Amino acid sequence: MAGSAIGLGNIWRFPYMVGEHGGAAFIIVYILATLFLSLPIFLSESILGRRTHLGPFGALAKISPGTKWKYMGLLTIISALIILSFYSVVGGWSVDYFVKSLTLSFSRGGADSVPAVFGSFISKPVAPLVCHTIFLLLTALIVGFGVKKGIELFSKVTLPLLFILIVVILVYSLSLPGSSAGIAYLVKPDFSKITVETVAYAMGQSFFSLSLGVGTILTYSSHISKSENLMASGIGTAASDMGFAMLAGFAVMPAVFAAGIAPGAGPGLIFETLPYIFAKMGEASPVISAVVAILFFLTILVSALTSSISMLETGVSYLEEEKGMRRWSAVGLLFLLTWTLGALCSLSFGPLADVQIFGCTIFELCDKLTANFLMTLGGFLFTIFAGWKLSKDDLRDELSSGGLHRPVAFRLTVFLIRYIAPIVIITIFITNLFL
Ligand code: PFF
Repeated sequence: MAGSAIGLGNIWRFPYMVGEHGGAAFIIVYILATLFLSLPIFLSESILGRRTHLGPFGALAKISPGTKWKYMGLLTIISALIILSFYSVVGGWSVDYFVKSLTLSFSRGGADSVPAVFGSFISKPVAPLVCHTIFLLLTALIVGFGVKKGIELFSKVTLPLLFILIVVILVYSLSLPGSSAGIAYLVKPDFSKITVETVAYAMGQSFFSLSLGVGTILTYSSHISKSENLMASGIGTAASDMGFAMLAGFAVMPAVFAAGIAPGAGPGLIFETLPYIFAKMGEASPVISAVVAILFFLTILVSALTSSISMLETGVSYLEEEKGMRRWSAVGLLFLLTWTLGALCSLSFGPLADVQIFGCTIFELCDKLTANFLMTLGGFLFTIFAGWKLSKDDLRDELSSGGLHRPVAFRLTVFLIRYIAPIVIITIFITNLFL
């Protein structure tokens, strides 16, 4: 579950969301949303998955037999696939930047010219499309061959390595002249920046980062043994996920200010800033800079893959369990669908930039539709199902692992799952919809 949670959402999405939505004020709302909304949803999904041993479609069908609720479960699976489509585009950018780091591209042409490389890369049609294809193909092969165990084992090495590398980059970033403005941006909140929209984005970021509302955590939880402590794994996953996001924010934002990049530069933010950091590092020590850059992009790539396989697995499990499809056929079908939508997302930075729907490019639409609406709706659904369709005894049974241990803060948890999370989520959702 940590493999699914920790990925591009932390390193790529969190810093640019912070930059677009007001810095420190956004971070405060994000932390509150994680504690009071995301954690209850995470537990709800864990409980539903382990209780039923099924994915979202099957779980809702089992708990509410004969009703149409299961189709809402199907919608959450479709959301995961929409996310996979544009996630794979960004995964593709990481593939390209990994190759760039291998060919020592960041040390050429001087630090100040490096950030602009990203703009010319994504506006081209072919190269980003090829990279998207490579990333999605890797994801499909891992899921198809069922070698997830291998990649999970691998990520046990790469995640701590990623942690160390971010700390190295953070320390270096803080040493750059002009970086203190970035720190101020992250720690001095301007509360006038908090609007319903900010709250919706912070909530969306928190859900995205913890892979919530799309049935992924539910699907993974359907394989958890009865003796596992759900509360502990929920808190552990949320804490490490939040830790990675904060570290990435503090590593990137000081350098953003040092390089004179606008914090609201959007999805390209880290792909403009990190090469700048590596180029600057290279002026002092080319070898260290090259090693840090190569390892950094490699570890990002692995953490992105452990997330993308969880999205594809959610859809593949559904087709296997409910439609009786063979694994490879399911993988092939979903590959084709997500590749096509992903290709449109990729082209929306270049030839399709003018295609706007509700004022958004195709990429922006997929991102906003999922993080701000579908994940929120899914989160609401799962808290209602866990909180109201299961009895209190069922909840106690799950949260105590069948009486194996005393459930921590049981009443507070149930209160959050039953009342606070659904009420707050639906209020923000509706307000945001009207805005
Ligand atoms: N949580 C992942 C990340 O932060 O990169 C993204 C993600 C994975 C979203 C799985 C949704 C999902 F089902």
